Amino acid sequence: MAGITLKDVRKSYGGNVDAIKGVSLDISDGELVVLVGPSGCGKSTLLRMIAGLEAITSGEINIGGRIVNRLEPSERDIAMVFQNYALYPHMTVRQNLAYGLKNRNVPAAEIDQRIQSTARSLEIEAFLERKPRQLSGGQRQRVAMGRAIVREPAAFLFDEPLSNLDAKLRVQMRVEIKRLQRSLATTSVYVTHDQMEAMTLADRLVVLNSGRIEQVGTPIELYERPATTFVATFIGSPSMNLLKPTETSTIALSPGNRLGGADTTIGVRPEDLHLADGASDVAFRVKVRVQAAELVGAESYVYGALADGQAVVFRVSGRSAIAMDTECVVTASAGSLHFFDGHGNRIEPA
Ligand SMILES: Nc1ncnc2c1ncn2[C@@H]1O[C@H](COP(=O)(O)OP(=O)(O)O)[C@@H](O)[C@H]1O
Ligand SMILES: [Mg+2]
Repeated sequence: MAGITLKDVRKSYGGNVDAIKGVSLDISDGELVVLVGPSGCGKSTLLRMIAGLEAITSGEINIGGRIVNRLEPSERDIAMVFQNYALYPHMTVRQNLAYGLKNRNVPAAEIDQRIQSTARSLEIEAFLERKPRQLSGGQRQRVAMGRAIVREPAAFLFDEPLSNLDAKLRVQMRVEIKRLQRSLATTSVYVTHDQMEAMTLADRLVVLNSGRIEQVGTPIELYERPATTFVATFIGSPSMNLLKPTETSTIALSPGNRLGGADTTIGVRPEDLHLADGASDVAFRVKVRVQAAELVGAESYVYGALADGQAVVFRVSGRSAIAMDTECVVTASAGSLHFFDGHGNRIEPA
């Protein structure tokens, strides 16, 4: 069993930059947890502390039942995959894969056998005798993955491993990583700033904001019940609309659906807003002046503003037939509305 437990882990650089401000987290054996958040929120710092590449300022890190605070990276039984591959350029793929095993005195026959099965599962058997420079970016990324896999570590740590790949390859590799992680059932921590990658990969998502955990949950939990406005706008694209019912906003909320006080913000996702169809019993309704529309394939996003200037975006299927600079009315059902208090925290119905 190789779960990972973080207890009130903190990191300050040079005494004044508090990069991680107290993170506690339980990662189960075999689970794939994704750390996601904007650039600079502390994702790499946290991952590097788990790896042992960065000392922790305080707290406790436990991997597979051992407190590893004082252990060197090589003693922690983890393997890391970075975005810049970090392959040895003068070694062949086979030598790159074998290197870490030779250092651990794994017998030669077992090294051969592990390389064969790893190369097969990653479909890199044909490149084993090539040098990294003779490989494409995607192939190098597979080799980097392979080097982690042959080690058979207690945990994989990924730091934005797909950032250097083009969009199409990134999606392919994302699916591949998910498949491999499932079949190996190795505990994994995966760092990305890409909420789409995070949503599709994660068993559980950890949203970090300025060195603190904002929310932990399955992708669907975070999508459907974001705990804060930060999570609400970070997860989902385009972002959830956050609207203030001001005197001139023309927002109409049916009685019984209003939560919180005067400082309440209403959240509604672009896909949950619909052009009004005349039905009178809707929970939420607002007039929007249409300013722009983007066709993104099977659907369009319409961008506009409320009477008081607040920006709003909603989704329509197919090509938008809505004329620019006209007014329309959009509505939302009670179940699709989110409410946040003046501090940005979710309000639940009593
Ligand atoms: N070696 C360092 N010295 C000082 N500050 C650092 C160092 N490494 C990271 N930081 C700071 O810590 C914060 C978190 O950085 P990082 O973990 O790299 O963020 P992320 O990976 O989420 O983009 C940032 O404010 C960054 O500037
Ligand atoms: Mg980083």
